Amino acid sequence: MTAAAGKGLEGVVASQTSLSFIDGLKGILVYRGYNIHELAPNVSFPESVFLLWNGRLPRRTELDEFESALAAQRALDPRTVEGLKGLPAETVPMSALRTGVSLEGVYDPDAEDNSLEPLEPDPTLSLSADFVRMANGEPGTEEAVEALDRTLLLYLDHGFNASTFACRVIAATLGDMHSAVTGGVGALKGELHGGANARAMHTLIEIGDPENVGPWLDRAFAEKRKIMGFGHRVYKTEDPRATHLREMSRVLTQQAGLEKFYEMSRKLEDRMISEKGINPNVDFYCATVYYALGIPIDLYTPLFAMGRMGGWTAHVMEQHADNRLIRPRAEYVGEMDLRWVPMDQR
Ligand code: COA
Repeated sequence: MTAAAGKGLEGVVASQTSLSFIDGLKGILVYRGYNIHELAPNVSFPESVFLLWNGRLPRRTELDEFESALAAQRALDPRTVEGLKGLPAETVPMSALRTGVSLEGVYDPDAEDNSLEPLEPDPTLSLSADFVRMANGEPGTEEAVEALDRTLLLYLDHGFNASTFACRVIAATLGDMHSAVTGGVGALKGELHGGANARAMHTLIEIGDPENVGPWLDRAFAEKRKIMGFGHRVYKTEDPRATHLREMSRVLTQQAGLEKFYEMSRKLEDRMISEKGINPNVDFYCATVYYALGIPIDLYTPLFAMGRMGGWTAHVMEQHADNRLIRPRAEYVGEMDLRWVPMDQR
């Protein structure tokens, strides 16, 4: 048998995709041939999803039709809403999302606060505008909606990241879309993946003040703690998504009077790079962007899921279009040839 791949499948090319390309050494991320630096300032999140799904940017009428079609599907099945209301009050939003996606799979004809009545979606609004309205109970400013939309675009797709790979493994069994996406949500919830954006914000709140960054990091380094929002399996240079989010964080924290969080972030970043050679990833500056927008911290990872949903679904379709079961082998390193010993002799 051939030797096992590196731990965590590092560097292994598992299959082909034409959806997104990453050059981790040069810090390049491309969706369907377009560098994200080209897309982020110019394209809305739904437009980027159209691109990912269809392989080209939409014409005006196509985008209008696409957005209307998405909006028409925005409401949950009432039985899913009832199911979610039945969850315990302490259920974290990512667990509620995982359960909700799974429930929608049951009720779909095609395939924490339980005291609150969820607001009905408004299909006349854009996806991001409607999210802000439903989350806050009132419409957001144009600027807030645009910022949120850009974070979703930046979260859209990222090669065979853990949650997308989980979706593809499920899809490759000819599992249905809801099953695959439910698996993706489960993988994203972990703090080494999507859970890192919320953890990064908790870190900044724990540090509390730019003056505390130095001593806090000294302690964290001494305890060999991982600093959430830093490091990446693929990028060994600046994560190109962080370039956009850092600038958004600077502007938005200033507008919200929360510049100390940006200052703390910069200090953390400077020391992580100069002492450890580890760069911030997509989740680090997204944390302060969402904080400045007033989004509750436990919704940060569900928002990541909202953006990545466009990528997960595109990957399921790509997998189904040219499918083969994903079934690797494991290198066995355990004992062999042991003999059974009766219970009373063990
Ligand atoms: N803080 C401190 N040290 C870190 C670090 C971090 N965030 N990320 C990596 N390192 C260090 C590791 O301790 C390890 O050091 P060692 O060789 O001295 O043991 C080295 O860098 C390699 O890290 P490793 O965890 O093996 O890399 P990986 O490719 O398996 O993991 C991540 C990649 C993303 C899981 C990892 O960087 C991490 O846990 N980051 C924090 C969580 C996070 O932000 N996740 C979101 C990713 S988008």
